[in-house]
Amino acid sequence: MTTELYSGDCLQALALDHGIVEIRLDRNNEPVNKLDARLLRELDLVLEQLRTHPGLRGVLLGSAKDAFLAGADIAVLWSMLEWPRQQLLEFCGGMQRSLTAIGELPVPVACIINGYALGGGLEVALCADYRVLAADGQVGFPEVGLGILPGAGGTVRTPRLANGTTALEWIAGAHTYKAAAALKAGMVDAVGEPPQLRSLALDWLGRAIAGEHDWKGMREQRTSGFATDEAAFTAAREQARKASRNQPAALAVIDLLQDCSSLSRDAALAREVQAFAGLIQTPAARALVGTFLASQQLKKKNRNQAASSRRVQRVGVLGAGIMGGGIAYASAVKGMPVLLKDVAQKALDLGTGEARKLLGKQVDSGRLQPERAEAILASISPQLDFRSFETVDVVVEAVVEDLRVKQAVFAELEAQVLPGTVLASNTSSLLIRDIAAKVQRPEDVVGMHFFNPVPLMPLVEIVRGEKTREEAVATAVSYAIAMGKTPLVVKDCAGFLINRLLGAYFTAFILLIRDGADFVEIDRVMESWGWPMGPSYLLDVAGLDTLDKALVILGKAYPEVMGTAFETAIQKLAGQKRYGQKTGAGFFRYEADAKGRPRRSGDPQTYELLATVQPQGPRAIGDEEILDRMMLAMILEAGRCLDEQVADSALEIDAGMRLGTGFPVHHGGPLWYADAVGATMLLQRCERYRALGGLYTAGLGLHNLAARNGKFYGSFAP
Ligand code: 3HC
Repeated sequence: MTTELYSGDCLQALALDHGIVEIRLDRNNEPVNKLDARLLRELDLVLEQLRTHPGLRGVLLGSAKDAFLAGADIAVLWSMLEWPRQQLLEFCGGMQRSLTAIGELPVPVACIINGYALGGGLEVALCADYRVLAADGQVGFPEVGLGILPGAGGTVRTPRLANGTTALEWIAGAHTYKAAAALKAGMVDAVGEPPQLRSLALDWLGRAIAGEHDWKGMREQRTSGFATDEAAFTAAREQARKASRNQPAALAVIDLLQDCSSLSRDAALAREVQAFAGLIQTPAARALVGTFLASQQLKKKNRNQAASSRRVQRVGVLGAGIMGGGIAYASAVKGMPVLLKDVAQKALDLGTGEARKLLGKQVDSGRLQPERAEAILASISPQLDFRSFETVDVVVEAVVEDLRVKQAVFAELEAQVLPGTVLASNTSSLLIRDIAAKVQRPEDVVGMHFFNPVPLMPLVEIVRGEKTREEAVATAVSYAIAMGKTPLVVKDCAGFLINRLLGAYFTAFILLIRDGADFVEIDRVMESWGWPMGPSYLLDVAGLDTLDKALVILGKAYPEVMGTAFETAIQKLAGQKRYGQKTGAGFFRYEADAKGRPRRSGDPQTYELLATVQPQGPRAIGDEEILDRMMLAMILEAGRCLDEQVADSALEIDAGMRLGTGFPVHHGGPLWYADAVGATMLLQRCERYRALGGLYTAGLGLHNLAARNGKFYGSFAP
């Protein structure tokens, strides 16, 4: 028999048979359970009631939704950015007390984790005596990725439950772990198939009630300190310094764990609150929390747009090169069969060979069963003709980057598919309106600009041509989502959004070199600001010949901004066939290391070549000027793109740059960073570099913002 003890907006408590009470998290009218003051208040009420509940022998804690608990409400974290420190300390202290009270009930507690328990969600689960996790579930602490650390006891309970090294790895690493890994790490006690989870948890509880486990002794043990492995701390610190130079959170976690290892649980909890309050108001946390919320808004917008589309069930890909092969693989892996067409058998063999290699890696790492890999491969049909193309919903063209060839391919393709089939071009440098100029149904033509390597890169620019109909855009959006990518709808213009902004950035680089700057210094400044690679290194990796072609196109399209009427550093080096990594030399020189990976080193010859494109000779340019000129050029181009509605909003431009270029996440994106600097200050900097031409001329939007003291993210609210 079940009796309801409590029913609120966030949870219910039900008395089951044999003295067991079940607490079920279930927020009314909300898609997920999240932790906030309201849920904590209700939890306090129920725990208070349970302390005196007659005949209570055990408590089950679980969720009535598809997942246990998604952690603290991130919208509340956003508001915390403005809270006075005292309010922060009181809120977190209260949250810790509520959670600690779970593990201080006079009876054993078992937590059922279905779906996931993340951040504060896992912190709640850690307060139970036992945790059972669904075989398809996931747990972890994403906090460091938000620029903060767990503030509800995670840094205290994890090392005392598992050990210090696991705490370092789990919390500083900010990864999410699958069930097997969580069990191995000792973060959960058992794993079960979802339908059996509840009985599994009841079984643990039953054994604790029967005295088979010393649950009281285990509780006692976890209130003191924990052993530390110095070598693990040194290694973690080293790793955190390298991986997240500009994000204080990972290092703060490591320091906190080390400093608190000898403290009692309660003393450590008090230190955790202080550390949490110290991080939540840093600029990095502001950018990371803000961009998480912005990404959720973009996700919602994309979902809404995709809702009006046809579902993509079968795909055609033209061109079995690196891009075409990658698109075929990424579609097939997500359950969309592919007709992969090329004009040469050799190319088809290469394309399918690439897919086989990628699947083989997944099998070797244990992520994919061999039979599933074979089934995926079998769903890619390599062919030399258009057989069965009338059955596909979308075709992605990925043939050579030549307008005439693409126009001919589209004209031929159009006759092979049913009207309404979306015809997408993966061009990166041509205009969709030009590609669609020779077809009968330009309304079906859209751009889908994938980034290389397709299986790894999360962004796809969806380019709306002049005549593209909305349903074709929506179908491309839906297809990108089905591939697990983030689509970003942009206007048809040279470079679309991402390459246009990169074009401005590389033009700034070219001008700096012309003015005498040392490319190694430019890389150092940009890498220490947070870019994974400085511009010279990036050019070497991408290929100087390819980038030069792209910059020439952009220079013609935007002569005032990106036109260069002189021989550029890139042209100088490319003219010597120094194309970068692929030819063993570009800005740097490359030699294969023992594992065959290219290792970069300096090359005096580069300086000799560059001296010929530096009319005033080399000169030392300060770090501040380098950073200003590089980032200002990108910001101003982003502002112009917003003025021209190349993308709909600042948050979309920033998301594109984070996902498409590795823009340092702790700066949010070019326009988030612009807001942090301020519009008036940006205009003053434009003035400083006015002599350099249109690259440093602000668009109308930035002038308007400065006039009214506004921000690019003016109306942004979670
Ligand atoms: N706070 C507020 N809203 C959240 C949320 C959270 N922590 N997690 C998910 N949501 C909302 C989403 O905004 C979305 O709302 P919408 O339907 O209105 O757009 C809805 O829940 C569903 O989310 P998704 O569309 O993202 O669904 P997915 O199934 O793709 O992903 C998820 C679910 C893996 C939980 C993903 O949303 C996620 O990563 N959420 C954030 C998890 C997180 O970072 N938790 C830690 C927070 S920090 C913390 O706990 C601090 C603590 O130590 C004090």
